Amino acid sequence: MNVARSSQPGTSRGRAAQYHRRMDIFRVGGNARLEGEVTVSGAKNSVLKLMAATLLTPGTTTINRAPDILDVSIMSEVLRRLGCQVRFSGGTLTIAVPEDPSTETDYQLVRRMRASIAVLGPLVARWGHAKVALPGGDAIGSRGLDMHVAGLVQLGAQVHSEHGFLIARADRLHGATIRLDFPSVGATENILMAAVLAEGRTVIDNTAREPEIIDLVQFLNKMGAQIEGEGTPTLVVDGVSQLKPVEHDTVPDRIVAGTWAMAAVMTRGDVTVRGATAAHLERVLDLLGASGAMIDTHLTDGRGFRVRMNDRPKSIDVRTLPYPGFPTDLQPMAIALDSIAQGSSIVTENVFEGRFMFTNELIRLGASIQVDGHHAAIRGTERLSSAPVEATDIRAGAGLVLAGLVADGFTDVAHVHHIDRGYPGFEQQLSALGADVRRIHAPDEDYFGPPST
Ligand code: EPZ
Repeated sequence: MNVARSSQPGTSRGRAAQYHRRMDIFRVGGNARLEGEVTVSGAKNSVLKLMAATLLTPGTTTINRAPDILDVSIMSEVLRRLGCQVRFSGGTLTIAVPEDPSTETDYQLVRRMRASIAVLGPLVARWGHAKVALPGGDAIGSRGLDMHVAGLVQLGAQVHSEHGFLIARADRLHGATIRLDFPSVGATENILMAAVLAEGRTVIDNTAREPEIIDLVQFLNKMGAQIEGEGTPTLVVDGVSQLKPVEHDTVPDRIVAGTWAMAAVMTRGDVTVRGATAAHLERVLDLLGASGAMIDTHLTDGRGFRVRMNDRPKSIDVRTLPYPGFPTDLQPMAIALDSIAQGSSIVTENVFEGRFMFTNELIRLGASIQVDGHHAAIRGTERLSSAPVEATDIRAGAGLVLAGLVADGFTDVAHVHHIDRGYPGFEQQLSALGADVRRIHAPDEDYFGPPST
């Protein structure tokens, strides 16, 4: 088993080491107006699964348009600890998978990043064994794994948990008809990656239909899998005996693109988002149009969209749903927008039961929000007032930065390592659009900097 060793800053191991630097804060200047162009890279929620899927075959796979984010560094580390060689350079990941990798993941790494559970399906499919740390819940909800486990059991695996690990064993997986209780993204992906090497046909009903699922299916089919039905509620997989390594371009990150669209509307700005697929954000752009924004999805190079806003946005009612519904990952930005919009609104969270936690931080900024179960009632206020706040997860963090852009004074957003997990060069891109956002290395956990002027 060969392991590449380099912890230079800028290398993925160096960045993983920085993971421990939890002290950074963003100092966000208010009364901002964003103007200009921004380019999105590949989707975090696709590239992490593509990386896991490389375990399905020995050899070297190349993944292009990989985002330069902390989660990619951590997944690289998960794969290295399994014996892979992983290089990241200029947005390209090169992953060399050995003939005989380990099938036991690193406990601490997986605990920190839930997405690493995606190695479960590939490992048990290819080697008949997988020992993966239980990822646990996070700030947005309990995050069960029952559908992942039930699916693998239906494919013929024995699965049990022991000492904080999920252990799966199988001589050879076999096809099955599996119906998901909820179109879970993670369960769809794990079952799919197991079924591609199973004996016979697998039918997965009520599957997730996100663009990231379609990207994974296209990647697997390029490797030699036989999957049909991507983008529909039913996937049909005919198992094959082996796959081959390939090269692939990651689908654009629609959540990052949607964040820029929200930021343009909240700051009454004019932002062109390049490299994105507008069709992946139809529901979101429709709602922003209803809030008064001008949306242009016919850019000359056809890749991206432009959002312009001249006035104070009108409030929008939002219900989060699995794709093609409004993405739960843009819910915090929708609440931030409604906090400064004209009128009152209701935001309903249908995917994660704990995803309103961050509203307490928005209330610190002067927002008027009342949460009742999975509904949040918001009364828009003309302007928020700056205050020190804390990011509790990736999207809540981004939502708080957007709120800081439209507050008076300087807002300190702490724990920005959350944001680094999903937004490549966030503060640099915001500055390029005219915002005043600086990263400050706080000396210790309780440092919130001098009182804002
Ligand atoms: C993926 O999480 C994304 N993460 C999430 O993005 C995203 O919010 C979510 O899909 C929904 O779109 C990654 O791709 C790494 P689910 P995942 O399985 O796969 C319940 C971000 O900010 N459930 O579709 O974990 C679960 O608890 C992140 O980028 C079970 O109960 O989502 C949740 O309530 C946050 N049992 C719901 O289903 C299961 O076995 C949806 O979860 C599986 C899921």
